[in-house]
Amino acid sequence: MKSALFTRFFILLPWILIVIIMLDVDTRRPVPPLTPRPYFSPYAVGRGRARLPLRRGGPAHGTQKRNQSRPQPQPEPQLPTIYAITPTYSRPVQKAELTRLANTFRQVAQLHWILVEDAAARSELVSRFLARAGLPSTHLHVPTPRRYKRPGLPRATEQRNAGLAWLRQRHQHQRAQPGVLFFADDDNTYSLELFQEMRTTRKVSVWPVGLVGGRRYERPLVENGKVVGWYTGWRADRPFAIDMAGFAVSLQVILSNPKAVFKRRGSQPGMQESDFLKQITTVEELEPKANNCTKVLVWHTRTEKVNLANEPKYHLDTVKIEV
Ligand code: UGA
Ligand code: MN
Repeated sequence: MKSALFTRFFILLPWILIVIIMLDVDTRRPVPPLTPRPYFSPYAVGRGRARLPLRRGGPAHGTQKRNQSRPQPQPEPQLPTIYAITPTYSRPVQKAELTRLANTFRQVAQLHWILVEDAAARSELVSRFLARAGLPSTHLHVPTPRRYKRPGLPRATEQRNAGLAWLRQRHQHQRAQPGVLFFADDDNTYSLELFQEMRTTRKVSVWPVGLVGGRRYERPLVENGKVVGWYTGWRADRPFAIDMAGFAVSLQVILSNPKAVFKRRGSQPGMQESDFLKQITTVEELEPKANNCTKVLVWHTRTEKVNLANEPKYHLDTVKIEV
């Protein structure tokens, strides 16, 4: 009797063990997330590089508390700084544009925003805005001469040059830190991925721009990793047929070409980008980004002119509100 019980026990034992192991394995399986994975990983910087935070190490108020329990990876000390030069001017949509831009830039590690007002003095609106933006920034201003404020003439020439001058002056006495310069107009839309792409710029990098030139996109044509032409609907004969939002320049190139600026004299409408790039690089040298210029990561969106037809002339609101 006893031996029969023993035999049964030994026959069942392996099966019991298998059931126990399977139950244990199942409970160790990671629980699938309730919410879908974000389309974009906030920790990846550049392809094939170490995983680094997209956001800066010392976050603005609020986020600090929320992230306390999670270890925050610190940015690499040598992560090149991205300098974004943004010309801006006073109009009803200005604060909305700057808010959208700041919301993007705040998520990019090691970004310095150079905001240049097209004005005779720094405005209170922009000063207050920048003070609360939670971003490393520099606030400059220079007015566009009245004679250049006409339709058909290039915009923001003086403002971009003021940004360039500030950069050159800031770095004049020290060895150039790794850095990348990018002209970020205030009405465009920027994907976070764009900043990962431009951060590895060695001299001058280029990529497609969406919603520009009367087309869904314009882009540099790339063969064997080199730019060989331009897919554009407008003046394909330009040496660099590219929008301001379609390129970035290393700080080193800006410093070693101290005379390269945007020119008023001799510059035809729409030729500013080409005229500038001609001074610092050649088409052969360009570094194609965004998967050999096959991905749109920035859009030349342009904001509709706002309708203020019903603004009151009398019986104004009892409070003065900044918009
Ligand atoms: C296109 C290009 O994308 C611009 O980079 C280029 O400067 C411009 O043409 C040009 O014609 O010069 P577009 O959308 O037509 O852009 O120009 P805006 O967005 O009106 O202006 C470009 C930048 O200059 C913006 O950041 C805007 O705020 C600023 N701006 C514009 C001024 O600072 N002052 C002005 O009087 C007008
Ligand atoms: Mn624009």
